[in-house]
Amino acid sequence: MSEEIKVQLTATPGEKPDSQKLGFGKYFTDHMFVMDYHKDKGWHDPRIVPYAPIVMDPAAMVFHYGQAVFEGMKAYLTDSGKVLLFRPDQNMQRLNCSNDRLGIPEIDGDFVIHAIKTLIEIDKSWIPTEKGTSLYIRPFIIATEPCLGVRSSYTYQLIVILSPVGAYYSGGLEPVKINVESDYTRAVRGGIGFAKAAGNYAASIKAQENAKKDGFSQVLWLDAIEKKYIEEVGSMNIFFKIGGKVITPAINGSILKGVTRSSVIALLQEWGVPVEERKLSIDEIFEASQQGLLEEVFGTGTAAVISPVGELHWKEHTMKINEGKIGELSQKLYDTITGLQSGNLPDTRNWTITF
Ligand code: COI
Repeated sequence: MSEEIKVQLTATPGEKPDSQKLGFGKYFTDHMFVMDYHKDKGWHDPRIVPYAPIVMDPAAMVFHYGQAVFEGMKAYLTDSGKVLLFRPDQNMQRLNCSNDRLGIPEIDGDFVIHAIKTLIEIDKSWIPTEKGTSLYIRPFIIATEPCLGVRSSYTYQLIVILSPVGAYYSGGLEPVKINVESDYTRAVRGGIGFAKAAGNYAASIKAQENAKKDGFSQVLWLDAIEKKYIEEVGSMNIFFKIGGKVITPAINGSILKGVTRSSVIALLQEWGVPVEERKLSIDEIFEASQQGLLEEVFGTGTAAVISPVGELHWKEHTMKINEGKIGELSQKLYDTITGLQSGNLPDTRNWTITF
């Protein structure tokens, strides 16, 4: 795509939030990127406009049949004042993979990265610099055609919004308590679990709310068929360090292919830490815990970065991990990933772009 991005700047720039109290996804910058799709025109009319509510037809298909996908990325400001993006090409690949599964037309990933860079240049002063903060980038695509027939929409909108954020979990790097969900299911192979589709998150909310009432931060999903194999934690992929080896569920069609997940696997391989992507049952984890071999558990995600898990509850069992403290490997991964993302560590893998 080579169409020029039109820019309309806001007349009333917003007030910047206190960067010590950002939380996650509560504040939004002054502008957003918007681009339309029509089946006869393709993707067209790329524009940056003041951040504002969008007007939509109540019959727009996204409201009825949930044709909606999104991505999550982060921008950091380096010490030399440049903006750094971490593996944006991976997010674009996944966006098109989600598009494909949801019947949404392919989008030019390079053009979307160009649009994101242009948007961030304009709202650069919103990038927080406090330790543990960043500018979260949320591209999403929705079906906009007013029609109640169940089929792929003829029109879509891509919108990119930016949000200065702190840690996803309010406790930051404080290990979280997670409940292994035994009743509800997030996704099943052949479904949309591998896609970053809005519906996957809707499916996770009830169990998550129940878990919250019981004092847990999140739920750990098991496979839908046997209710036995570990899948993911709705907002992050999950890793277990058992007897010196790191194990994470293999990508199987119902698990999100996390960008942080694959970065962690690559780092572990480089460091010579044995890492396995395979089926992993909750029984195996429970047994390891009984034998004192469950050394570390951590989640990975763009929002979550590396989030240590301090306690895992499964039915009537409580598995305490590393006495509820962050493990050495989790800390090293957190320091390395955030070091690369903030530009404080040299990028020897071609993972980052700066501008
Ligand atoms: C991300 O990590 O970027 C996500 O999209 C997870 C989301 C549930 C906050």
